[in-house]
Amino acid sequence: SVADLKGLKQGTLRLAVVTTAKYVIPRILGPFCQRYPGIDVSLTVTNHQYVLDSLADNRDDLYILSQLPDDSDAHCEPFMENPLVVLAPRTHPLAHEKNIPISRICEEPFIMREPGSGTRKAVQKLFDAHGLPLKVKLDLGSNEAIKQAIAGGMGLSVLSKHTLALEGLNNQLTILDVEGFPIERSWYVVHPSGKQLSAIAKAFYDYLMNEGKQVAEATSLLGMEQQQPQKVEV
Ligand code: PGA
Repeated sequence: SVADLKGLKQGTLRLAVVTTAKYVIPRILGPFCQRYPGIDVSLTVTNHQYVLDSLADNRDDLYILSQLPDDSDAHCEPFMENPLVVLAPRTHPLAHEKNIPISRICEEPFIMREPGSGTRKAVQKLFDAHGLPLKVKLDLGSNEAIKQAIAGGMGLSVLSKHTLALEGLNNQLTILDVEGFPIERSWYVVHPSGKQLSAIAKAFYDYLMNEGKQVAEATSLLGMEQQQPQKVEV
């Protein structure tokens, strides 16, 4: 309606997203903001637990997570795949092996995301389900720092495949072919189900589900085969 369009002219879109979403959401925001030049964006990038806290406190318009809130009566809609893969230095002895048993990963030093991270939760869940303890050597609150630590030979880790986008480090890292991987997950866009979305939030939601998703898929690495990401310059 005309009223909706007026409401869209000016205002702020408030987003709270998990760390992995920073590899695609800013890409989607470019064309969105060109379409609606009066909209400013506040984008908070934190871990799973902080995004859940913002949702509970109603601090933002829309939230992006890879794991659904347990207790929630929030409205959740998946919009894109976000698989977790095992990363190693390219020169690692396991780099060219096929079907590596998951137990083999527990013999290597492991770099883990911080408590509160959704990545950590998913990794812990898988290894717990197999009754396998990881040898956690280092606990780190940043995907980028973890990639540097892997490249530096501190150990292996499990991160979102999207973290391989957008940088030149990729030729130093490789994805291992490990049983039980990738851990298949999706990003969800979430908002409290009782909450009426602002016209701006609604416009972004619709954009994300349609054109935005295509922009993200076109610029992400998900279509690539294993072992190929390191050859890609984005
Ligand atoms: P995290 O969440 O940043 O809390 O690890 C990322 C994800 O679950 O994709």
